[in-house]
Amino acid sequence: MYRDPVESLEPLHHRHAAIRTLRVGMIGIGTVGSGTFRVLARNRAEIAARAGRSIELVMVAARNLERAAGIVGDSVALTADAMQVATHPDVDVVVEVAGGTGPARDWVLAAIAHGKHVVTANKALLAVHGAEIFAAAREKGVIVAYEGAVAVSIPIIKALREGLAANRIEWVAGIINGTTNFILSKMRDEGLDFAAALAQAQALGYAEADPSFDIEGIDAAHKLTLLAANAFGMPLRFADAQVEGITALQGVDVACAEQLGYRIKLLGVARRQAAGVELRVQPVLVPATHLMAQVNGSMNAVMVKSDAAGLTMYYGAGAGSEQTASAVIADLVDVARLDGVHAAQHVPHLGVHAHATNALAVLPRAAVHTSHYLRVPVHAVNQIQAVAASLAEQKVPVRQVALAAERPGTGSQVLVLTGPVEQGTLDLAVHALQARAEVAGAVTTLRVESLEG
Ligand code: HSE
Repeated sequence: MYRDPVESLEPLHHRHAAIRTLRVGMIGIGTVGSGTFRVLARNRAEIAARAGRSIELVMVAARNLERAAGIVGDSVALTADAMQVATHPDVDVVVEVAGGTGPARDWVLAAIAHGKHVVTANKALLAVHGAEIFAAAREKGVIVAYEGAVAVSIPIIKALREGLAANRIEWVAGIINGTTNFILSKMRDEGLDFAAALAQAQALGYAEADPSFDIEGIDAAHKLTLLAANAFGMPLRFADAQVEGITALQGVDVACAEQLGYRIKLLGVARRQAAGVELRVQPVLVPATHLMAQVNGSMNAVMVKSDAAGLTMYYGAGAGSEQTASAVIADLVDVARLDGVHAAQHVPHLGVHAHATNALAVLPRAAVHTSHYLRVPVHAVNQIQAVAASLAEQKVPVRQVALAAERPGTGSQVLVLTGPVEQGTLDLAVHALQARAEVAGAVTTLRVESLEG
């Protein structure tokens, strides 16, 4: 059976040595929480050496106490009341790994109000309520750390805020949702259908509780919001991101992209332009020979283009129990090192630059400037030139035109790769093309990312 938090925490008072143990209260003991418990226990000595003090899980809040007791045994106090963990005087840092944006917001704000540091892997919470949460943390001089919220096993937040601290970042682009990358890989490599691939991703624990967050691109947009804020010092602008998932993606486009030498990946892109920032998640074509195209299964990868370091790329597991635990515990080590240090000396966990706020508005969709892929159904193969001419007339630079390989059930189709053009110009050109007599069905467009320096 589990121990009662109030009695069980008393012995902790004896541990207040000169450098005392960092006492962790955890809310949630599901996939991420149980992984965090296991890794903290398994690597206790190494973690303590790196943190300069021991890190001890002292209390866990769980919905199902019997199940939780089965995971943590009697080493940790258990409670069904998450608010007790958030406010308990014997907890120094609250790890929130329950997920969701409702009660989790209240717990995190309560922990901050009680002067506790917070570590969370909850990207939805921070993308939606981050402005309020980080402001409260600044006010209280406590840390809110969230490495586990973005591309879990890749220390990308640390890379942006510390490793690349000297740089002006130009763009960040990445595969930042493991579930959709797993689905796209399974569909391409094993011919699995969408539903079967999603079911496998769910069984492996990669998907969100509501998998529409994954397949509609929302989870990737949450993470992109955090990346952009770190890269550019801009506020968290999740509501302004353009978000498109993979549910409308057709198998024929995956095959046609391959024919042209590309692969389709769900990419999050945050790019600084003169007039603002592009902030967008969508399925895009990347050259098949590019490293990003080789990122398969539930793996994630992030590329950063910065002025001094140049192009850098980071690769690792994008989802998973101990993979996320790795990031959560790295944040605990940071907290252990920075706890007690004056807040002005903390490396900021969200570097919003006051002066950048207005300059870094999110650009509207029509102003985004990229190359594009078009698939145009036509009545006859000799209409290929008419398609190219129509686009050129509308000021779309045409780089390549080809006929799609014949496949059962589809008529003739013209494939086009354009040069860089504003989305607004492309939309007008597609509208004009769609009205032409040669065009036999709906024109499909996807963006093309070169991901070059
Ligand atoms: N559902 C998320 C993903 C989990 O598939 O990437 C990790 O954030």
